[in-house]
Amino acid sequence: MVDAVGEIIAKIKDRLDILEVVSEKVILKKSGSHYWGLCPFHKEKTSSFSVNPALGIYKCFGCGEGGDAISFIMKTEGKSFMEVIRDLAEKFGYELPASGGGTSAGMREFKDQMLKACAKAADYYTTYLLQDKSAETLKAMNYLSERGITKDIIQEYNIGLASSKYTALYDILRAKFSDEVLEKAGLIMTSRETGFIDRFRNRIIIPIRNEHGDFVAFGARAIMPDQTPKYLNSSDSLIYNKSKILYGLYHAKDAIKEENSVILMEGYFDVISAQAHGVKNCVASCGTSLTAEHIKLLSRYTPARRIYLSFDTDSAGQKATSRNAELIKEAFTGLGAIKQFDENYLSMSDDKYSCEIRVIAPPEGKDPDEFIRSVGADSYREYIKHAPLLLDFQIDCILKERKDIKTPLEKSELVKRVIPYLQEINNQIVQGEYVKTVAGVLDIDEKFLLREVHKKTRTQQDSTSDVSRIVTKNITPAQKAQKNLLSVFLVADNPLNFKQVNEKLPDTAFSDETLKIVKSTIDKLICTVNNVKELIEELYTSFIDNPEIHKLITEMISISETFSGLEVEDVEALIDENLATIQKAQSDEKRKQIRQSYIKANDDDVKALMIQMQLRDEIK
Ligand code: UTP
Ligand code: MN
Repeated sequence: MVDAVGEIIAKIKDRLDILEVVSEKVILKKSGSHYWGLCPFHKEKTSSFSVNPALGIYKCFGCGEGGDAISFIMKTEGKSFMEVIRDLAEKFGYELPASGGGTSAGMREFKDQMLKACAKAADYYTTYLLQDKSAETLKAMNYLSERGITKDIIQEYNIGLASSKYTALYDILRAKFSDEVLEKAGLIMTSRETGFIDRFRNRIIIPIRNEHGDFVAFGARAIMPDQTPKYLNSSDSLIYNKSKILYGLYHAKDAIKEENSVILMEGYFDVISAQAHGVKNCVASCGTSLTAEHIKLLSRYTPARRIYLSFDTDSAGQKATSRNAELIKEAFTGLGAIKQFDENYLSMSDDKYSCEIRVIAPPEGKDPDEFIRSVGADSYREYIKHAPLLLDFQIDCILKERKDIKTPLEKSELVKRVIPYLQEINNQIVQGEYVKTVAGVLDIDEKFLLREVHKKTRTQQDSTSDVSRIVTKNITPAQKAQKNLLSVFLVADNPLNFKQVNEKLPDTAFSDETLKIVKSTIDKLICTVNNVKELIEELYTSFIDNPEIHKLITEMISISETFSGLEVEDVEALIDENLATIQKAQSDEKRKQIRQSYIKANDDDVKALMIQMQLRDEIK
């Protein structure tokens, strides 16, 4: 049975969660009943973009954009209403009538085949590694066991081996899948002489799963010392976008939620080792640098946005730490200050911070995998427990270099490098303390250091809030009153129902052409919708192609929020007040017209007298 399009759209709307939808693009932070973040529709540094989960809508106080979950997807992905509906129908498993979705059903089937092919491939590689007893599998098993990878770990992570034969996988999968599916999934590639060959050969296979557990791609490590590259990774495909997928997330997500923190590592084996040794809340990017999308994905799982960086502890690792920390900070700008001090310094609730970045840095220059295997997981856990906050780590790294200083010039270089970090400290008292400590450690004059630190902070702090409330154009009091009246329909906790509100609003009150259109749409909708949330959804949908009206609706929602918590009498008074404003404007207008005709009729005494009487009546 295929439902009518309208019914499917209703079902889709029902299943959409505005928080989930927006969170894919914007990092949100709860404050009161709303969530806030940086507006994806205009550039800003402080969050003026809000989501109201109760009403299922978003709006930006900076640029006035607003709408429901569907219009958010339309705007951020540049898709039409029906395109979005088709995508969502596919995602939720609803079948649209043939006219609506022929191609997308085909696409869904194709992706499904790709996923199945990847799962089969992962299965094949693992089975080959564990069950084949050839020289190459024994060698690979040996390599893995030397790396501390047991059979259990192999099974848990579906680690496998790609044979050195050219078509080992292709020979198995070609019976079940088309060449196109296998090629698009990145499992085979064309070779000049022989047609298709396997993409991964003579490598340890590390399957990559998305957060739902589907196999979507592979990382493949060289076994031979001279084999390049060290890791060969799947390219992006219809089912794999490496800037949105984190290795290990599927196994880590429960632990990330539980610990309310995540550990970012660099390599596949770092994650496998740590997780296998019980440190479950860790992930790594898959052979690419970290992206803002990765951070957004993670912040869905850790509301405290507590991120540990655990990279190599050599100087390359330190650079990676700083680079990634900058990226994380940038992703969180506008959500408050980054956590700079521990609670014993200043007591603040977690909610005050945009994020908390800590660095796990054992002194030995090892990656987490080597550290855990040689020193032990318990020791690693101690390092997690005592992981310094980013700023402390960065200042400490610079201070440590003082031991290598030989000349005063080198010393002044070091001072110069530490100053920007001291300037980042946003609490004056704490900053003073740090300046004292650093001056002591570097053996320089504290007053001099403090003066240098204060030099630039002024200009840096010049971060005037860019929340500019929706610019209300030059509208007349009557237009404003009409807008207010329509907003009464959108009050979520209105003690009056739609019908009661409607009865109090005569059509004659509305003179503004746009508001008239909106009013007549509301008139129709209130007969079919059950609540304010649905009314708003339907309104947005009705004017889906009219950005001006979309903005107007958004503005009306803002107005309606200022009307919440009112008693029946308050709402009635509110309506009366605005009606009175409109009436006054209307009669002002009428009098103006009469006066004008009086001036024109000046030379005709009788006519002028009649108009004078008319005017007096009107004023009465
Ligand atoms: P590393 O070179 O630090 O290696 O790469 P590793 O993770 O410690 O690997 P092992 O322990 O020697 O096996 C870190 C990560 O960078 C990506 C991989 O994701 C790797 O895990 N990488 C590295 C590539 O994608 N390609 C490469 O050629 C090298
Ligand atoms: Mn390693």
